[in-house]
Amino acid sequence: LFNDVPVAAKDPILGITEAFLADQNPEKMNLGVGAYRDDDCKPVVLNVVREAESRVAGSNFMEYLPMGGMKAFTDLSVQLAFGEDAKPIQEGRVAAVQSLSGTGSCRLMADFMHRFLPESRIWIPKPTWANHHNIWRDAQVQQEQYRYYKAETRGLDQEGLLEDLSKGKAGDVVLLHACAHNPTGVDPTPEQWKEISKLMKDKQLFPFFDMAYQGFASGDCTRDAQAIRVFLEDGHLMGCSQSYAKNMGLYGQRIGCFSIIAETPEEAKAVESQMKNIARPMYSNPPLHGALLVKEILGNSDLKEQWYEEVKGMAERIISMRTLLRQNLEDLNSTMPWNHVTEQIGMFCFSGISPEQVDSLAKDHSIYMTRNGRISMAGVTSKNVSRLAEALHKVTSG
Ligand code: LMR
Repeated sequence: LFNDVPVAAKDPILGITEAFLADQNPEKMNLGVGAYRDDDCKPVVLNVVREAESRVAGSNFMEYLPMGGMKAFTDLSVQLAFGEDAKPIQEGRVAAVQSLSGTGSCRLMADFMHRFLPESRIWIPKPTWANHHNIWRDAQVQQEQYRYYKAETRGLDQEGLLEDLSKGKAGDVVLLHACAHNPTGVDPTPEQWKEISKLMKDKQLFPFFDMAYQGFASGDCTRDAQAIRVFLEDGHLMGCSQSYAKNMGLYGQRIGCFSIIAETPEEAKAVESQMKNIARPMYSNPPLHGALLVKEILGNSDLKEQWYEEVKGMAERIISMRTLLRQNLEDLNSTMPWNHVTEQIGMFCFSGISPEQVDSLAKDHSIYMTRNGRISMAGVTSKNVSRLAEALHKVTSG
């Protein structure tokens, strides 16, 4: 029966962990998957999460959540994304459901498009998180790509981006990374966001923000949502995917929120009912534990403050590793420019090294990263940064 089933290709991100685990070198480094580590390279459970856990413990509530998840959780989430006093929230125009983190939100959006916007295409930045392509492919939505990254400058290709998006037709959806673009670490400036927003408004393109790193880029949740605020000011309707994997360290809890700002409260009600309808045959209703924790943290000002401090601490540790990595490379008299290491933002450094150089880092130095040269800065520590710099210097010289 299964004779003709071929073995699937390895996932370009999660497949790296398999190779890392098989390596016997005690000094091996996993800079593949974007998962935060402390300076001893250990996974972190935030203190605020431990506190929330102790507060929700013993609640004895193990019932199913509704199809759309926990309402108190989605209310708090959309406030975090759009701002507490956002007009669409006050006017009751936000449809929102609890989702299975970023992937789950994107998948709900993709299936929603397939069902209700069959003529619309999804515009995806080039490059993007590899899973975006899988998600919209499996939902059978036509994909287009827009230029985003300019290899020569290791910065944003704003001209190419605007030129490509101007080819969009009314009703097309544009996937935008709200902050800390994955994999490049290159974000538009507020002025560039304004230009993008204006063009999309003129062309009637629908923005869909994937916000997997709110707070994680700059250490400030409001600042990291500035792109969304620009689009709100311009009166866009929009969609948003939020994930609490990185910013609360709730990776395995699969907790996020999928929201759509509609034109009227009636429209929002209909859209939300259809989001639930899409979720029901996929997984019925989302898991409980993560929603309890996030609701506890966002719903209590003492915990929320503590969370702000802790997410800032994570962002700052990554920023300081960027400085150290660049310094180490420059001290080695590397002939390559490494200014982008400190100019990029978020969890990843898009190093600019070739797939072959990535392969030799793995083979000769037991340092693992995705083949597009993306380094997860979250796995870099004050103890391993010099080894990383030396290896990078070796594979890029000569
Ligand atoms: C990543 O890009 O490494 C993360 O978002 C983890 C994942 O699921 O790919």
